[in-house]
Amino acid sequence: MGMEPIQPKPSDLRVIGLLGSGQFASVWRVGSGNATTEYALKRCCKRIAAREHKGIENLLEEKRVHDMLHHAMIVRLLTSFQDEETCSFLLELCEGGDLGMLLDETTKQPEAAARFYGGCVVLALRHLHSKAWIQRDLKPANVLLDARGYAKLADFGFSARLERADSRTFSMCGTAEYAPPEMLRNQGRSFPSDWWAFGVLMYHLVTGKTPFDADDEDEIFDAIIQYAHGDPCKREAAQNMLSDHLRGQKVSEEGCDVIVKLLNPSEKKRLGSAQSHEGAPLEEQPWFVCASGWDWSALLSRQVAPPSRPWDTAIARNCFGEYRTAPITAERACQKWCEVNESAAPVEKRDQQRFRSFGPTVVLRDPDSDVWRARNPASPIGSIGSPEGARPPLR
Ligand SMILES: Nc1ncnc2c1ncn2[C@@H]1O[C@H](COP(=O)(O)OP(=O)(O)O)[C@@H](O)[C@H]1O
Ligand SMILES: [Mg+2]
Repeated sequence: MGMEPIQPKPSDLRVIGLLGSGQFASVWRVGSGNATTEYALKRCCKRIAAREHKGIENLLEEKRVHDMLHHAMIVRLLTSFQDEETCSFLLELCEGGDLGMLLDETTKQPEAAARFYGGCVVLALRHLHSKAWIQRDLKPANVLLDARGYAKLADFGFSARLERADSRTFSMCGTAEYAPPEMLRNQGRSFPSDWWAFGVLMYHLVTGKTPFDADDEDEIFDAIIQYAHGDPCKREAAQNMLSDHLRGQKVSEEGCDVIVKLLNPSEKKRLGSAQSHEGAPLEEQPWFVCASGWDWSALLSRQVAPPSRPWDTAIARNCFGEYRTAPITAERACQKWCEVNESAAPVEKRDQQRFRSFGPTVVLRDPDSDVWRARNPASPIGSIGSPEGARPPLR
């Protein structure tokens, strides 16, 4: 175990740029005082959390699970705190963007790269599952790349704890394309459901498309249910179609084999599942172990060369979420940073109480008054965090 990272003081944080945003959160690149280390600050809107069904519980659960996770392939949570309007997670910064951005940029990945990213995710999921939690929202946008190009699992906003080995969770949450058939059939979810999503992720990485693709959510759900048909003959035909499609995309036999086994409609038989006694476990599949130089323990100790250094790609130079096409300016950042979601009612006192266990109440700096801003009045923020051509030191 390395040394514990030094905790920056929330009041010293200054905003550098926007990294990404989701349904409840905006994620900011931040610095602390004059120190060179940068972080990601995930700010979640309390008003929206209070309005959503289970929104507050989910936020508290996200903190609870993330606090407990210490793993090389999982984004590290340094601390959490709150103010009147937001709950914030201070996270390790992943400068390389997320796998969704990588796919947007490159369409599909060579198999060796997919194996590397997939291998990182396998290690992360095994760790999460060993603590009795499931992720429930595995998808490219929730797998981040650090400065060296290693993949790290992020976003535990929908994670749930399974109290017993046979517990199941019944919330309909996550992302349509990655939804497991058991959830769509109202049979609930357990650990194998994350392996289904992992199969979709691998398919997405090697082909550039998700396997159950359609114009709207209902059609996507229909395609998944159709694929997971109760009739064994129809099922087999659907699985054959899926592997034919993979072969048509020039995916190796071993690669097809792993993906089709992950996308097994039967949870018990699904690859990755602890109950599955059909053949070798996921980690021993030929696609992994027969690949030249593949070594799980070297991967875990970060001694394998990543497929690409994010800094060599356009993503890292430009990873500012929705602002990727238009660089975010200091003005815009202030607006967003201080923005309060007026569409939702202010948080009631009783609800504020429920946030108590999230973390201490702090005062964050207003980016408008930032010293660097006075010094760089005209510069777009994107050019401060990632100057064109400049490279961070390799760790
Ligand atoms: N630690 C981080 N470093 C860099 N970018 C991040 C980090 N955390 C999140 N992001 C970016 O912000 C996006 C949204 O963050 P996420 O935690 O997934 O929020 P949400 O719960 O709203 O989906 C991610 O898809 C990613 O692009
Ligand atoms: Mg997310």
